[in-house]
Amino acid sequence: MSENKIISVFGATGAQGGGLVRAILRDPQGGFSARAVTRDINSDKAKELARMGAEVVAADIDDPASIKKAFDGAYGAYCVTFFWAHFSPEKEMAEAQAMASAAKNAVLKHVIWSTLEDTRKWSPLSDERIPTLHGKYKVPHFDAKGESNHFFTDLGVPTTFLLTSFYWDNFIYFGMSPQKGPDGKLGITFPMGDKPLPGIAAEDIGKCAYGIFKRGGEFIGKTVGIEGESVTGAQMASAFSGLLGQEVRYNDIPPAAYRSLGFPGADDLGNMFQFKRDFNDYFCGARSAAFSKSLNPELQDFKTWLLNNKSAIFKLQSAAGE
Ligand SMILES: NC(=O)c1ccc[n+]([C@@H]2O[C@H](COP(=O)([O-])OP(=O)(O)OC[C@H]3O[C@@H](n4cnc5c(N)ncnc54)[C@H](OP(=O)(O)O)[C@@H]3O)[C@@H](O)[C@H]2O)c1
Repeated sequence: MSENKIISVFGATGAQGGGLVRAILRDPQGGFSARAVTRDINSDKAKELARMGAEVVAADIDDPASIKKAFDGAYGAYCVTFFWAHFSPEKEMAEAQAMASAAKNAVLKHVIWSTLEDTRKWSPLSDERIPTLHGKYKVPHFDAKGESNHFFTDLGVPTTFLLTSFYWDNFIYFGMSPQKGPDGKLGITFPMGDKPLPGIAAEDIGKCAYGIFKRGGEFIGKTVGIEGESVTGAQMASAFSGLLGQEVRYNDIPPAAYRSLGFPGADDLGNMFQFKRDFNDYFCGARSAAFSKSLNPELQDFKTWLLNNKSAIFKLQSAAGE
């Protein structure tokens, strides 16, 4: 029987968990093995993980009995919730609570909880600069994760609280790529003013998480923040211009205009960017590229990420006729 420590990974077919599963599998002498958790073990992504050597198990984050099974016999777990699957902070908190409770019952030795700030600690509901959403949140998909931290601490689960950053992959998969404005010029749009936005290649989140597991108990009970680099809108636009060989502008719009863009979650994201802009010293200070690189020597900065994703970006631009 394998002596490896099993890491049970939620979101294994997704961005964060997928990066962790691949990082574990790429290091067969590392002392860990990957248990990939998915709702559908027959999906193409799940089958690919099995082909690569992961143990693939079925569980649904909304079904506590299945989480129990997914954690059975494991050394550790990567716990992430999927806000954009339902847009409900209450559901997200219930999911985090269910994972914390299952981790406690399974006596896991190390859990990484993929969290974010409860922004209400910086901008309380009485602060009218950032509009309150659903009566009790400022940035619902942040606040629900931050508020959930206590489920892990209350139960004494040995947890590392991992503060992640904006995925640069959003430029490819979340409709944030350079787009033509009314004047025909390409631009990227963020309400960040001239403040830097901590960002990361999604794949690097999992690689950093693997670095945390490899460092044993060092970060248990601690909050650690990761990023690839903090870059301003103007710097990202300039890097895009260099890649695409044509000018890409940075459209700095007010947060209120971003909230009104009309896509699902625009209000939440508008508030998120405003929080990152208005509490920028705190937000950037909580994430360190040097620390992230110590966990993951392959950490990409923004320009490296752009070059590594050049073909996907060009494909997207040409599909959009841009
Ligand atoms: N986008 C960003 O810039 C960013 C930055 C920081 C943090 N985040 C946070 O990242 C989280 C999402 O993580 P991700 O981006 O890694 O996910 P993702 O790439 O969107 O993948 C979704 C994953 O969710 C799994 N999943 C969905 N519903 C599930 C359920 N009920 N039970 C079990 N698994 C379920 C899917 O697995 P199956 O389909 O195989 O079951 C899939 O692996 C969100 O909460 C978001 O707030 C995002």
